[in-house]
Amino acid sequence: MLDKIYTARGSPNIALIKYWGRRDDALNLPNNSSISMTLDDNLNTTTSIIFSDKIKSDAVYINGSRQDSGALMSEKLSFTISIINKMKELAGTKSNFLMVSKNSFPSDVGLASSASGAATLVYVANTALELKLPGKELSKIARQISGSACRSIFGGIVRWDRGLMPDGSDSFAEQIVPKEYWADLIDVIAITSQSKKKVPSSEGHKITVKTSPLYRNRPSFAEDGVKRSIDAIKKKDFDTLAELIMRDSNNMHATMLDSWPPIMYLNDVSREIINAVDGLNKAHGQNVAAYTFDAGPNAHIITLQKHSAEIKEALSKIPGVQNVMVSEMGSGPSISEERLISDEMLAANETA
Ligand code: PMV
Repeated sequence: MLDKIYTARGSPNIALIKYWGRRDDALNLPNNSSISMTLDDNLNTTTSIIFSDKIKSDAVYINGSRQDSGALMSEKLSFTISIINKMKELAGTKSNFLMVSKNSFPSDVGLASSASGAATLVYVANTALELKLPGKELSKIARQISGSACRSIFGGIVRWDRGLMPDGSDSFAEQIVPKEYWADLIDVIAITSQSKKKVPSSEGHKITVKTSPLYRNRPSFAEDGVKRSIDAIKKKDFDTLAELIMRDSNNMHATMLDSWPPIMYLNDVSREIINAVDGLNKAHGQNVAAYTFDAGPNAHIITLQKHSAEIKEALSKIPGVQNVMVSEMGSGPSISEERLISDEMLAANETA
């Protein structure tokens, strides 16, 4: 409904079998399917939006600051606005919008802030514009802003099917199991750096596909990982799932290193964490934890609730680990009562 402020809250997702490399860069169509776990509310994006004829021009505030407009606007933001404009067209309105968004965790450090940002925005715009599009359609829209965002439209464990169609109409995410299915599966996150990534993932995808000979084997390896991990998830077979997760992360980072110029997202502390998890699994005689890294050096340790304290303790002993956070599985975006748009902000953006 126009002239009303709507707010939604969503979360990032951590890929268990990763998306890296695309068959279409403009539409964000991946070379392989992927699997992720949506995180809980401890890591969240909150986004308020209002569509109204009274708003002077589209305005976007992220993490407290007005984003530059006109020539200074980032490519990503202007593309995001174009996607919102397409949603407006679908809703049959030309009203401008005011959007305010904040993350509860650091942006651009490989914690998937763009995924939770894009998914939450698409979700709240769907409500505010009364489009009533189903999750599958929202996931296709979110995918165009940031590939991995399509998985954050759903909670629990999610598969993004690569699809085969050139127009991306069959490349969307869907839930495999809700969080209740395997509620004790958790993600222990170790922050090893808060610096912004040197190579944005949008560039990294292209460089690897173009230059890495190792990458040629990656899509079929990952596709096989998707099938096997779904099987392990359905059986709640953690030992098997953990190996698939760790091998997939290693495989993706190997293709990154094999790119030219090489892309290195992991740092020395990340590698210490890999060794520590390996040691822990050996000590237990089975996999009790699985490390995985997205396009950044921060570690996600997928484990079961009963091993949480042991993992946290092991991580906190590693020099260079700055902070350890625990996230359970989340249930995906939802509408919230919070209001990030104050009356003053609204007045400042309205025509007199
Ligand atoms: O969605 P993008 O373009 O930021 O790509 C992210 C890819 C990884 O996070 C490295 C893996 C994944 O599947 O999320």
